[in-house]
Amino acid sequence: MKSKQTLLNLIEKKQAKIGIIGLGYVGLPLGLEFIEGGFNVIGFDVDEKKIPILLNGNSYIKHIKDERIKNAVDTGRLEATTDFSRLPEVDVIIICVPTPLDEHREPDMSYVVSTAETIQKYLREGQLVTLESTTYPGTTEEILLPLFEDAPSFKSKGKVGKDFYLAFSPEREDPNNPNFTTKTIPKVIGGCTEACLEVAKAVYDAVIDKTVPVSSPRVAEATKLLENIYRSVNIALVNELKMVFHRMDIDIWEVINAASSKPFGYHPFYPGPGLGGHCIPIDPFYLTWKAREYEVNTKFIELAGEINTHQPYYVVQRVMEVLNQRGKSLNGAKVLILGAAYKKNIDDMRESPSLKLIEILRSKGAVVSYNDPYVPKLPPTRKYKFDMESVELTENNLQDFELILLSTDHDVYDYEFIIKNSKLVIDTRNAFRKKGIQSDKLYDA
Ligand SMILES: NC(=O)c1ccc[n+]([C@@H]2O[C@H](COP(=O)([O-])OP(=O)(O)OC[C@H]3O[C@@H](n4cnc5c(N)ncnc54)[C@H](O)[C@@H]3O)[C@@H](O)[C@H]2O)c1
Repeated sequence: MKSKQTLLNLIEKKQAKIGIIGLGYVGLPLGLEFIEGGFNVIGFDVDEKKIPILLNGNSYIKHIKDERIKNAVDTGRLEATTDFSRLPEVDVIIICVPTPLDEHREPDMSYVVSTAETIQKYLREGQLVTLESTTYPGTTEEILLPLFEDAPSFKSKGKVGKDFYLAFSPEREDPNNPNFTTKTIPKVIGGCTEACLEVAKAVYDAVIDKTVPVSSPRVAEATKLLENIYRSVNIALVNELKMVFHRMDIDIWEVINAASSKPFGYHPFYPGPGLGGHCIPIDPFYLTWKAREYEVNTKFIELAGEINTHQPYYVVQRVMEVLNQRGKSLNGAKVLILGAAYKKNIDDMRESPSLKLIEILRSKGAVVSYNDPYVPKLPPTRKYKFDMESVELTENNLQDFELILLSTDHDVYDYEFIIKNSKLVIDTRNAFRKKGIQSDKLYDA
């Protein structure tokens, strides 16, 4: 029988082989972190297109440099495959698959469940499995644990903490933030047993500067949700205040700047065109769903969701008001949206409010185009299938639009050039004024 000590020894000597399931925004950088920390990694993904790209030493994520992938492949430390029968080759399995919401805004656990079923088939004695996908408290012990206990390789029921190890450790990432990397962001870990926590901590300690052990997977799962709910609620609060202060002719941005001078008890959040990204618009509702099982309503989460969902509608209302002041109507107006990604300087389109803006503006008769230097063509999403390509930002093109709507404040935008050559600009991010630009063509939303 493989003892816990065998696995700990392998980890200590960096001879433990790491398997990452799901090579996306979370799994790929995590795999590279292990490789750069001296481990060998097998990346598993169901997406056949990703494997040859990686094996050719290239990246499909903008902020992950080709060079890192190439080094990983050239040194023989990175393998990538769609063949899950190779799972027994690895000592540690880290799950980084998507956890979206379904069309009824309820947790879609299908990726986690199908991954767990695949692991069940191949799980062998002495392996550690950690789940990193954001999810509701209870997932690790309610979905993964029973499946793994029944893995065919265990003669009778497998014993967690003895035959195999299981933990939850949520991913924390701020895409494209140069101040934090996977290595320097502290990592919370909750194990199903003390032994599970010990081996999971040893694995992450080998490549992450600081780990934060907690008493159970449920606490670790809840921690991740608290972090994202905190953001969602506070963003909703400033979005609401933006609407109130606008009516009162008070500049929300000036208020936030002034409040930020308080050295304690205040953390600034900023309004925008609506929530985006894989986490904040989605994760809070995992708790809402689970809380129903306990007959508790998550009123704060719902209210924040309501305000944040309304935000793109508010922006379009402002577009109509501004056009109206100039004697124009939105119906038939040519509108150019600047920025398709959900946040600045990245190419990630998931849940981007720009897509919602396109939908609402079109429904009101506007002729909508977009520009995004990082998104040459709008990729199809589960909800939207826009066939649109990024319009070049030339003098002529800008002048051709009745209104320019800034949705994502990419740093590469030449804001002086844009304002100079546009008829009318609505800025949802305060990007122009941050650059010191004042103009009677410029409006807030
Ligand atoms: N992106 C972030 O900034 C971020 C931050 C914190 C937490 N998370 C969480 O991490 C998880 C993964 O998010 P992501 O952003 O990396 O998603 P992603 O869509 O970028 O990547 C997921 C990968 O999993 C693959 N995949 C899907 N089903 C699979 C299966 N059954 N087996 C193997 N591979 C499969 C997909 O092909 C894709 O490559 C989610 O739960 C998300 O909420 C993401």
